[in-house]
Amino acid sequence: MSQRSSDRFSSRAEYFETLEDESVNPSTEPTLGDLINRRFSRRDLLKGMLGVSALGAMAVRPLAALAKAAETDAPANEGAASRFGFDEIPHGVDEDHHVAPGYRAEILIRWGDAVMADSPDFDVRAQSAAAQRKQFGYNNDFVGWVSLPFGSDNAEHGLLCINHEYTDEELMFPGYGRHQKDFANLTREIAELEMAAHGGSVIEVKKQDGAWRVVADSRYGRRISGLDTEMRLSGPAAGHERLKTHADPTGTRVIGTLNNCAGGITTWGTWLMAEENVNKYFIGASSDLDEVANHERMGIPGNGYGWGRFHERFDLGKEPREPNRFGWIVEVDPLDPTSTPVKRTALGRFKHEGAESIVNKDGRLVVYSGDDQRFEYLYKFVSAGRVDPSDREANRDLLDHGTLYVARFADDGSLTWLPLVHGAGPLTAGEGFNSQADVLIETRRAATLLGATPLDRPEDVEPNPVNGKVYVMLTNNSKRGADRLDAVNSRADNLWGQIVEISPMDGDHAAPTSTWDVLVRAGNPADPGTSAMWNPATSEDGWFACPDNCAIDPQGRLWVTTDQGNGWKKASGTADGVWALETEGAARGTGRMFYRVPVGAEMCGPCFTPDGKTLFVAVQHPASDGTKDYPGFERSSTFEDPATRWPDFDPELPPRPSVVAITRMDGGVIGG
Ligand code: FEO
Ligand code: CA
Ligand code: CA
Ligand code: CA
Repeated sequence: MSQRSSDRFSSRAEYFETLEDESVNPSTEPTLGDLINRRFSRRDLLKGMLGVSALGAMAVRPLAALAKAAETDAPANEGAASRFGFDEIPHGVDEDHHVAPGYRAEILIRWGDAVMADSPDFDVRAQSAAAQRKQFGYNNDFVGWVSLPFGSDNAEHGLLCINHEYTDEELMFPGYGRHQKDFANLTREIAELEMAAHGGSVIEVKKQDGAWRVVADSRYGRRISGLDTEMRLSGPAAGHERLKTHADPTGTRVIGTLNNCAGGITTWGTWLMAEENVNKYFIGASSDLDEVANHERMGIPGNGYGWGRFHERFDLGKEPREPNRFGWIVEVDPLDPTSTPVKRTALGRFKHEGAESIVNKDGRLVVYSGDDQRFEYLYKFVSAGRVDPSDREANRDLLDHGTLYVARFADDGSLTWLPLVHGAGPLTAGEGFNSQADVLIETRRAATLLGATPLDRPEDVEPNPVNGKVYVMLTNNSKRGADRLDAVNSRADNLWGQIVEISPMDGDHAAPTSTWDVLVRAGNPADPGTSAMWNPATSEDGWFACPDNCAIDPQGRLWVTTDQGNGWKKASGTADGVWALETEGAARGTGRMFYRVPVGAEMCGPCFTPDGKTLFVAVQHPASDGTKDYPGFERSSTFEDPATRWPDFDPELPPRPSVVAITRMDGGVIGG
């Protein structure tokens, strides 16, 4: 891959989106879109669905049910009863956020707010790395909940574990201007501030008199950062030659975590932070020629940040192995603020979007994780040992031993999980894999050799403990070429994404095979050009584009959040938000809009309290994405001139990424 430059883009968001949209995968396997197309065409189900599409919408139901409907000519949505009792809000875009009538959406914490007992007050005109190190970081993404005391299901007092994915300097720093060619305005202080604003935050929160607040001076308050949080590498790749650097000749200690997107909370109350687009932080040409192909497969160097000008470890010429120490799942114990986070190499190295897990019926932990890039793969990790629900300590290193699998989808609706085990099949010295460490460091290449199925950018993957199924958000694939289409569905230039539902065999998440189905194919069902597939009961505001994160509420209902990026106007014309999505019965495939973000933001981190009465959401990068298409504004945002100043609307303050607590005014369960 040629070295990229970010100077063609007026904002970091625009540049990053281009990076994500590229493919570095040379595989020629059929895409999941191809498989979906083949399934629908071969089973002659389209006939039944086209009848519905003539009405402007397409039904999506389990294939068996569809086949039955086609036989009987029964209306696809007959008797559809909603599981969600709220009035939806309309599509739209403006400078504020919006929630369904009868609900309250309150700002819980914003970029710069205090996280630690000794956090200095936020002063946007006198920022420092030292202050940021103790304040809430930038671009909140994943939000996870751990009840206090641990082991209880207390829904009014707990810890929130929040990821800070990346930074937008043009919105953070006065006088910085737009994203600069060759990082012209970057100083060491700004670089270190950005590093400090990455990572994560642990905050203690309490609900009192119906309102949420952050507990001041909490003993749990903690910032994890890209600047100075020391971490341990563990598992099969720890200590390997390819993880050793000048600063760490042991290959077992690394400073910081970067680009933490989604994540997960284990049943023993640890927080899994997924390292996603770690390629963005490296510049220069690798001085180790043996690593060049490995780096290219991860899009390294991504040249998104100029930190390597001040910190040699981000310069491939100086430290060609430093990138091998990023792209992992990091496990953090939020209950012990002095604990050392651990990068668990057994779960593989790629652009991990998230890491949601479920205790399998045999007691083993299964962690699902998508690799978010065009034509990359879906993975699961199955622990060797069993979860001990009565002894937290006993699970401490459970994630160091187990098997990583990658998914191969077949067009008959089956799915095979291929084990990434050194010595098996092509994963041998003949292909350059001399150990399991090599397999894990180059997970993507190993998965390609096994014949994994390239997907349309897998984002969040969520097992549903109530119905036993797994929901996979495939966000979009705008570069899909016409040469990869079939006659039935035209999803070239797939701007909208789709949601796939996996059904483990006999409810066994560890099993080597599963079946799969499509829940919805996103996009506007009234526009035949999208080939969207929704339940016909979906209203004109109930459909969405570009599913990204999701959450399962305590009743087992699915809630989806979207990230359309700069392409929002073409993809849907509405701002991103939260939609409730039916998965069961005749209403399956019906969406309903619940919450909407301000212009330029994406919607992240949906997280329910155990009683289902609070939904925490993370509003990431307000005023950033696609503001050139915001009517009346139509330009890129800067600190001085942003498309919105949400949430403070203070002329002295820029927009601030924030976590929002949504509750029902009558105190009831979210969504009824
Ligand atoms: Fe960080 Fe794939 O979104
Ligand atoms: Ca995401
Ligand atoms: Ca999630
Ligand atoms: Ca996304």
